[in-house]
Amino acid sequence: MCGIVGYVGGRASIDVLMNGLKRLEYRGYDSAGVAVIAEDGTLSTRKRAGKLAVLSEDIAEQPLPDSTTGIGHTRWATHGGPTDENAHPHLSADGKLAVIHNGIIENFAAIRDELAGEGYTFASETDTEAAAILLGREYERTGDLREAFKAVVGRLDGAFTLLAVHQDEPDLVVGARQNSPLVVGLGQDENFLGSDVAAFVEYTRFALAVGEGEMVAITPEGVEVTDFAGNPVQSTPFEVQWDASAAEKGGWSSFMAKEISEEPDAVANTVRGRVADDGTVRIPELEGLDDLFRDISRVIIVACGTAAYSGMVSKYAIESWTRLPVEVALSHEFRYSDPVVDASTLVVSISQSGETMDTLMAVKYAAERGAKTLSICNTQGATIPRESDAVVYTHAGPEVAVASTKAFVAQITALYLFGLHLASVRGSLSTEKIIEETAELQAVPEKIAEVLTQHDEIAQLAHWMSDTRSVLFLGRHVGYPIALEGALKLKELAYIHAEGFAAGELKHGPIALIEPGQPVFVMVPSPRGSQTMHAKIVSNIQEIRARGARVIAIAEEGDVAVLPYADSVIRVPLASPLFEPLLTVIPTQIFAMELSEAKGLDVDQPRNLAKSVTVE
Ligand code: AGP
Ligand code: GLU
Repeated sequence: MCGIVGYVGGRASIDVLMNGLKRLEYRGYDSAGVAVIAEDGTLSTRKRAGKLAVLSEDIAEQPLPDSTTGIGHTRWATHGGPTDENAHPHLSADGKLAVIHNGIIENFAAIRDELAGEGYTFASETDTEAAAILLGREYERTGDLREAFKAVVGRLDGAFTLLAVHQDEPDLVVGARQNSPLVVGLGQDENFLGSDVAAFVEYTRFALAVGEGEMVAITPEGVEVTDFAGNPVQSTPFEVQWDASAAEKGGWSSFMAKEISEEPDAVANTVRGRVADDGTVRIPELEGLDDLFRDISRVIIVACGTAAYSGMVSKYAIESWTRLPVEVALSHEFRYSDPVVDASTLVVSISQSGETMDTLMAVKYAAERGAKTLSICNTQGATIPRESDAVVYTHAGPEVAVASTKAFVAQITALYLFGLHLASVRGSLSTEKIIEETAELQAVPEKIAEVLTQHDEIAQLAHWMSDTRSVLFLGRHVGYPIALEGALKLKELAYIHAEGFAAGELKHGPIALIEPGQPVFVMVPSPRGSQTMHAKIVSNIQEIRARGARVIAIAEEGDVAVLPYADSVIRVPLASPLFEPLLTVIPTQIFAMELSEAKGLDVDQPRNLAKSVTVE
């Protein structure tokens, strides 16, 4: 995971690096560190365990020398605990060269042994330091950072984005990537490197994605991209669609609060430009791919965490609209389960970051076996869309809080658009029906905005329940993945035991968990959608009420059948069943965020987590 930033140009590099790290801190926050080449030509580093603020204070108390070249890192520890020693940058034996790294160098032990055999010593437990010492040794041999770097990256196995600077080449930062992200920011007499564009978007919106197995060298005058053998590579620059203010808190108490408030826009922006004048879905990115979509006989969705739950929700709609079988698999389980995949399989990956290693590996595996691959992604230029046959971007804007909210609703929106597109290409749905469903999707933003008006009531509920130690969530059909998602949010944000169940499954075991006072959220489906399903969930509510559960029902406006059994009711506007999850999920997100706040926890950066999980 880790956030990586590099700079060469005319600005004070420490400012650029610290600003970049601030925007990348969501990727990891076990420690932070920088290395800069001072104007007198010496390398200075500073690194501290803990969040970026610790490093910031340290530098404020004891400033680093003036510099216009440097690298910075925010860490999510994989090898060695979150200590000052293990924090990046790591140095060569002579202290003249600094390296930062995102990923895992799988053959680090062998390299370390080899170097130890030559008398080198190590100051940390990280895999990264082996690369730093090795690079230092190669520099001594070649006297050239580009050459030394080329020799080193060719020897490394596993996943890495590596950046390096050497004090004898003060206007140069080199970088390489293999299975970890790296983008270049293109400036005027200055250039940037970052794990994603957020690292430099306040300075430039022009970017270049460094491809798999490629190296890059930036100087103030230019950018050179090559493969690991040193052959030049042609890359096309792109313009970032959002500006720096989109990644600022803008007066909200947390990024998560801001991002929840942006959910109506996330849906609206994802739909925008994808509805034709006649009211049917038209996805410009998928033009020319009709034959591919006609030839498939099944769909497998691969994703992790919240993204996987958006896939579980969407399965119902895609199956209903296309009559194609849709399977949803956790990427890491899919990849290693010898799945049945062939040329008639469409593997749809869902990833906010587009960098989740488990999902990337699942996509690569599926492609190797001949499957067609489609990426649903929120991050332009990320690795997963680049590795896929096609991409439908969600336009949720940058999501900074570790807990995913607006990306989730945008993912469902994109998958629904895709489902309708597929239905149209395959002729499985009438044009009238496609227009009707599309119109319902277009109405969602306003309905989400209505749910958001209940923020204070939901917050109050969370504050009353701040000492709760366990919360259960129940749902049926599309409400089931929302129950799972509601529980995940609570676990990751409030650190309390939370579980989601299919409501019908309760009587097969989990009902034993119910004891007096146990809070249970229930996603109540609309009685207009299915009288039977509604009646069954009302029975489930009665069953748990009879055993003392404290029921919080999330039900549509006007559903009075739940009133006698629910301790609290949160209302959502009327929607047809497939669209309900886009509304019922919102109260669960607000509840988890508020409970976390009530407990005095860090809403945006919950413990042990990172936004972008780039290790398997
Ligand atoms: C959600 O709140 C999580 N932090 C997490 O489950 C996340 O959705 C998952 O890691 C997948 O990330 P991605 O969408 O970037 O692939
Ligand atoms: N493996 C390196 C470490 O433990 C980098 C970890 C990462 O990418 O998060 O420091």
